[in-house]
Amino acid sequence: MNLKYRKTIIAGNWKMNKTLSETRAYAEALKPQLGKHKWCEVVLCVPAVNIPGAVKLFKDTRLAIGGENCHYEASGAFTGEVTVEMLKEVGAKYVIIGHSERRQYYNETDLTVNKKVHAALEAGLRPIVCVGESLEQRELDVTEELITYQVKIALAGLTESQVRRVVIAYEPIWAIGTGKTATAEQAGAVCSHIRGVIRKLYGARVARAVTIQYGGSMNAKNAAELLAQPDIDGGLIGGASLKPDDFMAIINAANQEA
Ligand code: 13P
Repeated sequence: MNLKYRKTIIAGNWKMNKTLSETRAYAEALKPQLGKHKWCEVVLCVPAVNIPGAVKLFKDTRLAIGGENCHYEASGAFTGEVTVEMLKEVGAKYVIIGHSERRQYYNETDLTVNKKVHAALEAGLRPIVCVGESLEQRELDVTEELITYQVKIALAGLTESQVRRVVIAYEPIWAIGTGKTATAEQAGAVCSHIRGVIRKLYGARVARAVTIQYGGSMNAKNAAELLAQPDIDGGLIGGASLKPDDFMAIINAANQEA
């Protein structure tokens, strides 16, 4: 973390979990603890159908609600999809784009990621753009090249002020939902690399202002060590964000530094 230059953001990605009534129970458990979070921003990205309910449940708190995906077109014949304006109008502030599960199961590509990033920013949503390598790619030692490629395409055509509003989440695919976390050094090195890519594209001032998260089996136990890395500015948390106490413990880990 580096609180002088950028916001720490702890975001939960609920994926395809929790009904509205389960969301209500979660909010009841988390809200009394939330007042204590100070420096970091807290976000919960929930299934699209539950966004309006979640916004209402957390309306008196500083926790923001986000979507987990969006389409890049403004409207049209895309059965089952939601637009950025739809997300915006029901109160979402963030949207996850290019999660590896979307890339793997729904044919999301770097080019669609780029279109979605543009659409989100134009609607006033902050995109959380996911990048990350598979185990095979790591073993072939192409992680840095791959991440460079993903980041460059995701950010293509954005202005400096738009890039400052983008959050990048480094999520090694082999660490997602597997209980295998990247070591703090491994995660920190890739997040530094990402900042270096942004520096080359947009200069040092923009690069140091961008929030870069780590995601992949982040939990109450390992969060503090990961967040101690200078280029890890938060987390995108799946499994551990589903339990209010675990999520709160991660938020607290992000609040250790003044
Ligand atoms: P887990 O925290 O369950 O590994 O999921 C990480 C993730 O995919 C967040 O987007």
